Amino acid sequence: MIDTIADLQQKIESAVISDKETLETFRRNFISKKGSIAALFEKFKECPIADKKAISPALNRLKNEAAQKFKQAVKQLEQQTSLGDTKPSIDVTLPPIGSSIGSLHPLRIVQNKVISIFERIGFNFAEGPEMVGDWYNFGALNFPKNHPAREMQDTFFLQRNPDLLLRTHTTSVQVSTCSSQLPPLRSITAGRVFRNEDISARSHCFFHQVDGMYINTYVTFIDLKETIYHFVREMFGSETKLRFRASYFPFTEPSAEVDISCRLCQGKKCTICKHSGWVEILGAGMIDPSVLANCHIDPDQYSGFAFGMGLERIAMLLYQIDDLRLFSENHIAFLQQFTACADFNGCPSVT
Ligand code: DAH
Repeated sequence: MIDTIADLQQKIESAVISDKETLETFRRNFISKKGSIAALFEKFKECPIADKKAISPALNRLKNEAAQKFKQAVKQLEQQTSLGDTKPSIDVTLPPIGSSIGSLHPLRIVQNKVISIFERIGFNFAEGPEMVGDWYNFGALNFPKNHPAREMQDTFFLQRNPDLLLRTHTTSVQVSTCSSQLPPLRSITAGRVFRNEDISARSHCFFHQVDGMYINTYVTFIDLKETIYHFVREMFGSETKLRFRASYFPFTEPSAEVDISCRLCQGKKCTICKHSGWVEILGAGMIDPSVLANCHIDPDQYSGFAFGMGLERIAMLLYQIDDLRLFSENHIAFLQQFTACADFNGCPSVT
């Protein structure tokens, strides 16, 4: 028995406890009620009394040594795991990750800017529906039913009611505003318009426009020019030059298109201005008297001017964006570039 004790003592001393598993093996082999020390105590009971005296101290020592080793190992492992826990804990010196902040869409930034320029000179914002009757989009604006001018815009008509369509321009809002309010009228509108066009870098089946008009007694082309000059200076900077080119729209007479000096090449000619030094930004003109009459405004008493522009075009010029699709694809990487632009002036890339 003494030999067995000595043998076991050696095993206990040399047992390596390095983790939870080896600790459990040690407990099972030596400490537990089914372990080898408990088995020795069982055997001890059957020993002759004479031997017991000699065996008892060695057996108790063995038991204590095993218990002691076990206790120490538990303590050590506990310390290790608590140290291990603190390892991947928070490094307070790291800069904060922060939550990402949303941003205004570039088109919204530009729209807000355009609207605010006109609101500051007395224009009122008017909103209109995207789905309109033929009269508002074409009829009242002098597009005769079978006139080729109607073909100018490829339209989405509603299959169930072909008299309803998705507006092809925000000029439709001019008709509803004129028909429901009395002059003097200074009105500005903005929104989405739809045309049956293929989606590419240069064209899209929907885009955004701003349309404005001023109707009063004695409104002349000079008023239109002065207003557009003011807008261009505010929007693109006082250095920007502009020119009016004669054009045609069914609802204005005379009509014009307005070009601004290319702000990218500064006269040195680039692909944006197609080497001309000028880029077109809007259409405008004196509201045709028959359009006024269609909206129950007496053309002998009142006259007015109107203008309309594409927001994508302006945003593309300002932010140097070369693909229309970027505005509607909503890629985070694209939109995130405008996070700093809480308003138009706050955006570093717009100067
Ligand atoms: N509606 C025209 C378009 O979509 C733009 C336009 C031109 C609007 C002249 C106007 C205007 O109000 O007077 O191309």
